[in-house]
Amino acid sequence: MRKLRKDEPCWCRSQKPYGECHAEFDKKIEIYRKKFHKVPPRSIIKNEFQLEKMRESAKINIAVLDYVGEHIRAGMTTEEIDRMVYEKTTAMGGIPAPLNYEGFPKSVCTSINEQVCHGIPSSSVELVDGDIINVDCSTILDGYFSDSSRMFCIGNVTPENRRLVDVAKECVELGLKQVKPWGHLGDVAQAVNDHARANGYSVVREVGGHGIGLEFHETPFVSYVIKKGTGMVMAPGMVFTIEPMINMGSADIYIDENNGWTIYTDDEKPSAQWEIMVLVTETGYEVMCY
Ligand code: MF3
Ligand code: CO
Repeated sequence: MRKLRKDEPCWCRSQKPYGECHAEFDKKIEIYRKKFHKVPPRSIIKNEFQLEKMRESAKINIAVLDYVGEHIRAGMTTEEIDRMVYEKTTAMGGIPAPLNYEGFPKSVCTSINEQVCHGIPSSSVELVDGDIINVDCSTILDGYFSDSSRMFCIGNVTPENRRLVDVAKECVELGLKQVKPWGHLGDVAQAVNDHARANGYSVVREVGGHGIGLEFHETPFVSYVIKKGTGMVMAPGMVFTIEPMINMGSADIYIDENNGWTIYTDDEKPSAQWEIMVLVTETGYEVMCY
């Protein structure tokens, strides 16, 4: 890559001179690269304009999840959740990102009990007392993406399942606390994994978080099975999701061959997931949506 002069426009398209923008950043990145750390490509470093657009998108995503939370109840079908997500997202000027994404047929993922993720809303699936469900919402606003998910407990959930939901939330929040510039994604992963295992649970290996912003899924893949001090270096301007799937039993999963999407636990024990979209800042992190 050609070296920019200090007075040239920065590569991040901020329109600021390079010397006042990412010159110091690049020096820091170079130090890590020379030590053979995996460093983020420039293409995933967001500028202030892009971040502002993503915050607007994220506001819709949060409002949609709030709206679902106010209305979700036993007796409702997951198709009705899908309709709520579609209506609320579009009323606010957004587009549900899952709709038609690589052929996904609905506006939201609804994953109940032993479904790990990518459950497809259906008029034949009715929420019943005791269900735990993940509602995973993603929004596009003016081409900028946001993504977060929450668990909902339907009526009287067993203490065992409620604990799974609570610990899964603790896991994602402990991971979040590890987000800081010049740390590693492995710091996040290990915090998540250690807490899950300390509670007797396992963490899904094959599916994880992702960079996000200009596209739904950008590099890096955010794993929860790598170790502290390994994985990509976190740098200011990076945005990614932390969305570990925590299984009550074994970490093994399989994919529904009929729809090609829905992932289940192998042992049919329940799984829980919360998802946070986070920005790495100069001093730590900013939660963009949760
Ligand atoms: N938030 C989920 C993910 O990042 C949403 C997937 S949407 C789907 O994996 F369309 F791919 F299902
Ligand atoms: Co996601």
